[in-house]
Amino acid sequence: MKELVGRVALGVASFSFAPRDRSADLATIRAGIAAGTAILDTARAYAHVDAPLYGEELAAEAARGTGVIAGTKGGHSRTGESTWDADISRQRIRSDVETSLRVFGGERLELYYLHRVDLAEQPVEEGVSALADLRDEGKLTRVGLSNVTVADLERAAAVTRIDAVQNHHSAVGRESLDVLAWCEANQVAFFAYSPLRPSTPAPSRHLAAQAAERGVSLQRLQLRALLASSPVLSVVSGATRPETVLDSLAAESDPWDEPLATAYAADLT
Ligand SMILES: NC(=O)c1ccc[n+]([C@@H]2O[C@H](COP(=O)([O-])OP(=O)(O)OC[C@H]3O[C@@H](n4cnc5c(N)ncnc54)[C@H](OP(=O)(O)O)[C@@H]3O)[C@@H](O)[C@H]2O)c1
Repeated sequence: MKELVGRVALGVASFSFAPRDRSADLATIRAGIAAGTAILDTARAYAHVDAPLYGEELAAEAARGTGVIAGTKGGHSRTGESTWDADISRQRIRSDVETSLRVFGGERLELYYLHRVDLAEQPVEEGVSALADLRDEGKLTRVGLSNVTVADLERAAAVTRIDAVQNHHSAVGRESLDVLAWCEANQVAFFAYSPLRPSTPAPSRHLAAQAAERGVSLQRLQLRALLASSPVLSVVSGATRPETVLDSLAAESDPWDEPLATAYAADLT
């Protein structure tokens, strides 16, 4: 689990909502890798209607030969301009994993999540047992779950070892505290997605004052605050420009001191 915690992972979801510019998107991800990004986050769902593998292909191309861990997700695909499905049936998960294996081009996927456990009709056990079988076959290294409750996790962990969880958890709202506590108790890596959304400035008043005093961005301090909040946590940043990618990554090595801890605690009260 050590390699999955305390990191600023780089997510590529936003590239599927903007007009496609493959070389610019790749250059942004590569700027992150050059600056030390250790984990990329992609998914089958991060696609364009006319390019259904766009997000996975971007991450695969950027990660190739770098040693960076590329996490991807299945059971959720884009079906139209603003529609997505959710299906964690055994058949669908196996087929999605086989497709991702072809895209990434290796023998196994390093980190594979069920993307929308919350929206799928099937019980979590069905998708998780499909991933457990695929891991037994050597096609996956780590099993992850996304958009889950503690009850889902308890049921899934009875089927197989869960290595990572990815839920919405932001510096402002800390939406998944119960799931984070479960991950801490069970030594499972927790990835906080959309860590800067919602981005209401008011609740970060004290941290914003610290940012102004130190001449750094509030977003960088918010990411740092999340990383400091738990020994099993990483954030998935959705920065889409080299400047914001590098700024977010800097949070990984920023110091966390008493004035910052006090300011963040004051913002949360
Ligand atoms: N598992 C799931 O169901 C799920 C759902 C949603 C997201 N995710 C994952 O989480 C990732 C992040 O989600 P998100 O895009 O909502 O993330 P976010 O990082 O909370 O928000 C991204 C926004 O913050 C801005 N930003 C990021 N770093 C900044 C910085 N240092 N300074 C100023 N602005 C900054 C970006 O601006 P610029 O665009 O200008 O850089 C962008 O507008 C996704 O790419 C995906 O991998 C997973």
